[in-house]
Amino acid sequence: MTHKKMSPARKQRMAWLGLLAILALAIVLPLASYSVHWLGNDAIAQDAATVVNPRSNYWRAVEGGVGGYTAISGREAGVLVAAGGIEWQQRRDGPVAKYLPWAILGMFAVVLLYHLIHGKNKLDAKQLSGRKIKRWSWFDRSVHWVTAISFIFLAITGLSMLIGKNLLIPLLGKEGFSWWAQASITIHNVVGPVFSLGVVFMILLWIWHNFPTKVDIEWFKQGGGMFSNAHPSAGRMNGGEKVWFWVVAVVGLGVCVTGLIMLVPIYNLPVPSWLAWVPLIDGTRPQMQDANLLHAIMSLGWTALAVGHVYIGTAGTEGAFEGMKTGYVSEEWAKQHHDLWAEKAAANGKVVVLDDDTSVSTANHEASQSTA
Ligand code: HEM
Repeated sequence: MTHKKMSPARKQRMAWLGLLAILALAIVLPLASYSVHWLGNDAIAQDAATVVNPRSNYWRAVEGGVGGYTAISGREAGVLVAAGGIEWQQRRDGPVAKYLPWAILGMFAVVLLYHLIHGKNKLDAKQLSGRKIKRWSWFDRSVHWVTAISFIFLAITGLSMLIGKNLLIPLLGKEGFSWWAQASITIHNVVGPVFSLGVVFMILLWIWHNFPTKVDIEWFKQGGGMFSNAHPSAGRMNGGEKVWFWVVAVVGLGVCVTGLIMLVPIYNLPVPSWLAWVPLIDGTRPQMQDANLLHAIMSLGWTALAVGHVYIGTAGTEGAFEGMKTGYVSEEWAKQHHDLWAEKAAANGKVVVLDDDTSVSTANHEASQSTA
């Protein structure tokens, strides 16, 4: 066999062609894998357009309200997707959390402005005679302070849950806030029932003093004397206090009932049969969502009004706090703010002189020291 020798020119051409082929393959081969992948996906996408995934149909049915299996027991067993949750969250995080807390700050501003312009409502009497009238019993005061202190705890923890994420993370950090948020929920859930009892006691104890009368209309016509030096007539409670009482009674009961509706499923509380007719108490998530929005709206509005009440009871009115602290008010204070009540007390021999201005124990001798 004879071998023809390759010419050097042909050898060179072959070498160039080989090099070009290697380069072309080096570029095309990696890209080829992409095109294979793309072709495959396209095929899957075409399948998906024509074939319906049975799982999607299942979840569509679940969203439409069909139940399923869940590992939890209780009222929510079998509920896989709680309809309305997104809508509830948009309302809660939207208008409720964004705008309502400003009402509280607005009330602080109003109170501050009033105090700067008008100042404290002082007693006209230059000197106190030492004669006093019993206004609040030991039980009245205990109920008031337990309810008031619980209210403050609930307001702070409630606001922490509603808007704390934005306000407190910069201060406490994410871990610190997570701890505080958890603590807030526990405090809120434990203090809530104590507060609710306080509200019920307040209503039972004080409703008798708070029915409106004609005297209240005149009191309101004169702005309660808050913008002048007038002292409009009032019985045991004046018009403004009566309004505050009815806010506590109506909004208070609303806040407590909506709070209870949220507690029922959380602690799986049994609902007594006599309450079953109340449409809201069925312990399901949609009812909890409605209860939550109502609870937040009412309690934020109430907290704003409470700022006004706390101001009037402390820095706003000389001598009012003393009444809720010791149970007694000076006769001068009573005549200035509740003249009709003071007259009745004097007529019934209820004006007393105490050994010690603040000591409640000496108040037990009031009968023997009565000067009226
Ligand atoms: C923590 C701050 C509070 C202070 C300093 C305060 C102070 C007072 C004072 C001095 C009185 C007596 C007024 C008078 O003798 O005429 C009073 C009455 C009253 N307070 Fe408060 N209070 C506070 C919080 C609250 C809260 C949070 C509530 C409701 C949850 C509340 C509900 C009431 C009610 C219902 C009355 C009786 C009003 C009536 O019968 O018309 N207080 N408060």
